[in-house]
Order: sequence, then C-alpha cells, then structure tokens
Amino acid sequence: MSGAASQVQADLDRLLPLLDTSLTTPFRAGEAARLGEAMRYSLEAGGKRVRPILCLLAAEAVGGTVEQALPGALALEYVHTYSLIHDDLPAMDDDDLRRGRPTNHKVFGEGHAILAGDALLTEAFGVLASAELDPVRRAEALRLLAEGAGWRGMAGGQALDLEGETLATYDLDHLRLIHRLKTGALLRASLEIGAVLGGAAPAERAALRAYGEAIGLAFQIQDDILDATATDADLGKRAGKDAGRGKITYPSLLGLDGARKALSEATETALCHLATLPNRNSLAAWAHYLAQRAK
Ligand code: IPE
Ligand code: IPE
Ligand code: MG
Ligand code: MG
Ligand code: MG
Repeated sequence: MSGAASQVQADLDRLLPLLDTSLTTPFRAGEAARLGEAMRYSLEAGGKRVRPILCLLAAEAVGGTVEQALPGALALEYVHTYSLIHDDLPAMDDDDLRRGRPTNHKVFGEGHAILAGDALLTEAFGVLASAELDPVRRAEALRLLAEGAGWRGMAGGQALDLEGETLATYDLDHLRLIHRLKTGALLRASLEIGAVLGGAAPAERAALRAYGEAIGLAFQIQDDILDATATDADLGKRAGKDAGRGKITYPSLLGLDGARKALSEATETALCHLATLPNRNSLAAWAHYLAQRAK
C-alpha cells in the first residue's frame, strides 16, 4: 500500500464505525416507522462517507477534535444522502441502482422517497442546531450548511444540471459552474464546517474552504470519468448513464484524456491550499485517494 492509501485506510478504520453507528441511531424508533425505514435504508447502504470524514479531518487539521465536529459530519451525510435519493427519482436522473441496492423510490415508492429526502434534509439542520457546541460556531456551521445545500449550492447546481440536458451548446465555464454547485458546494461546506467547529484561525479556515472547493470539482470530474469507464458492479450504481441522458460532463466536453488532465489540475490546486496547515497529512492523502478512486 502507498503512504497515501495506508493513511486513508487508517482514517477509515478510526472514523467509519463511529459514523455508521451515529448516523442511523436516531431513526430506529418513531411514529412514522416506514419513513424511518426508508431513511435508514439509504443511510445503511454503505456510501463512502467522504463528506463527514473530510469534515472530521478538517477539524483535526486545525487542532480540534472529532467530538466537536461530529454533529456537522452527521448533518453533511444526511444532506448528501437526501440529495442522492432525490437525484435518482424519475423526475431527475431516473436511476434504479444506488450504493449497490435498488434506489429508494424503487423500494419505498416515489412519495416516501421524496419524504425520506425531505426528512433527512430537515434532520441535518436539527442535529446541528441541537448539538452542545459553542453557540457562535454552531450558528456559523448552520449558515455554511444552508449555503452548501441550498439554491446557491447543491440544489442550484442540480437545477442547472437538469437544464443542461436540453442545452444545444455549452462551454467549460458553464460545466465548471454546474460541478462547483451540484457537488463542490457541499464538499466545500464539509471542510469549512469542520474548520469552524474545530476552532480554525481565519487563515486556516480560508485554506480549508479553498481546498474543499478544489477537491469538490475534482470529485465530480472523477465521478464523470467513472460513469464513462467503470461498470455497475464497480460503482454500485448504473454506469454509462450520463451520455444517454445528454448530461454535460468533463469527458463529453474534453474527452477522457482532457478530463483526466482537469482532474489532476484540480487535485494539485487542492494540495497547494494545504501548504500552510500544520496537520495536513490526512487531507493530502485523501486528495490523492479521491482522484484515483475506483468507485
Ligand atoms: C455521488 O457521491 C454523487 C456525487 C456528488 C458525485 P458519492 O460518490 O460520494 O456517493 P456515496 O456517498 O459514496 O454513495
Ligand atoms: C449528483 O451528480 C450530484 C448530486 C448532488 C447528487 P450525479 O447525478 O452525477 O451523481 P450520480 O452519478 O448519480 O451519483
Ligand atoms: Mg444527477
Ligand atoms: Mg445521478
Ligand atoms: Mg454521476
């Protein structure tokens, strides 16, 4: 194993068990049992947990603790899981496979899938708002979550992505905007929320925001590349769907080689922003790992 791969494995071994238990515990008992089941179904399906892990690592990178950042990490995975449930609906990407399982609406129906997404989004703000944290940091984290998830962030990017399916022409600036919003905004928020909850100094927070912005673009470029090159079994979701739906992607605009070059540029940019941080080893390893990931 390379140094980066063993660092990533060590972070996963340390953080995944905590995340997996904390994520689903709140939805085990309640009146709306089937809705809780639908929420747990997608949360337990084994996503990579990239956003919560980056949030926790960002807190540690500025001298904070996992405990301080955990409510933010949970909130980010709730928002992300909601975004995937809605992304797969017939009205959006119309997919039937996610995280190696039939999509939420295929199992629970469209109504419950919409509501599971709504409830996860709401729970994200609830878990953060009710956490015992420094009130100023908590309020700032809530604001950042709203920025990353909302119409200037993920939801806005998803709207542009849908509108892009019927655009006759587009250029790299427009594609970068879609990717920055639909995927980059929540990844950027993951790093910045971790920074805020971990008590970052202003310059550290700015560096982590910039790293998150670059890693977010890189992440969606690799997602586009994998859609064009990997298999359903590799990804646990349908491969080869972007071209069929007329999605604007890096490989469709720049070809695979051009997309790979853009991916390595965005990764290099991310790494540059880490230069001034004292504890940067994990986040550097994750930048390399995410660019080379096979799923
Ligand atoms: C998939 O995200 C959707 C994008 C924003 C590209 P992930 O690749 O993080 O999906 P999971 O959480 O591992 O399932
Ligand atoms: C999804 O982008 C971005 C989200 C905000 C959910 P994609 O539509 O490419 O994600 P996948 O490929 O279905 O996971
Ligand atoms: Mg989509
Ligand atoms: Mg999709
Ligand atoms: Mg995709």
